[in-house]
Amino acid sequence: MQKQTVQFTYQVFASYDALSLQDQLLFTQARAALSLAHAPYSKFNVGAAAVLQNGEIIKGSNQENASYPIGICAERVLLSTASTLQSKVPIITMAITYHNERGGNNIPIAPCGMCRQAIAEYESIVNQSIRLILGGETGELYVIEKAADLLPFGFSGVHLK
Ligand code: THU
Repeated sequence: MQKQTVQFTYQVFASYDALSLQDQLLFTQARAALSLAHAPYSKFNVGAAAVLQNGEIIKGSNQENASYPIGICAERVLLSTASTLQSKVPIITMAITYHNERGGNNIPIAPCGMCRQAIAEYESIVNQSIRLILGGETGELYVIEKAADLLPFGFSGVHLK
């Protein structure tokens, strides 16, 4: 028997002001995307913004539905937009933030399991890792170098061959 360890390193920034100007700009776009969320059921708005390899910035926000399972997360709305721009354009960095009407909002949220799977597949198809910036309205922000770090033992197309 052997034991294996999975670990990854991420950066912690004390506040928005501690980010580089470029990252602040992208994070501000994620905050702007919050206003386009449709989250009347959870009252939990999520905004995402991504800078593409060509410098373009695209956004996504969560879109809920009265038929709850139909709702789609901000990250996958954004990936769908990216996929329809120029086939699958490489994404360099994605910033994700949220506003919970019930309060809090001071700790980063990370993509849900389904989004981790979707982002990891995007990374592998395009062969470009996606850097993540995660943060709330106040407090610390996390920067993760590649989304696949969030999905050890991820299932992929390789397993279907
Ligand atoms: N949500 C996202 O948009 N992204 C995440 O990473 C986590 C959850 C949405 C789904 C739902 O509309 C609301 O947040 C509450 O779960």
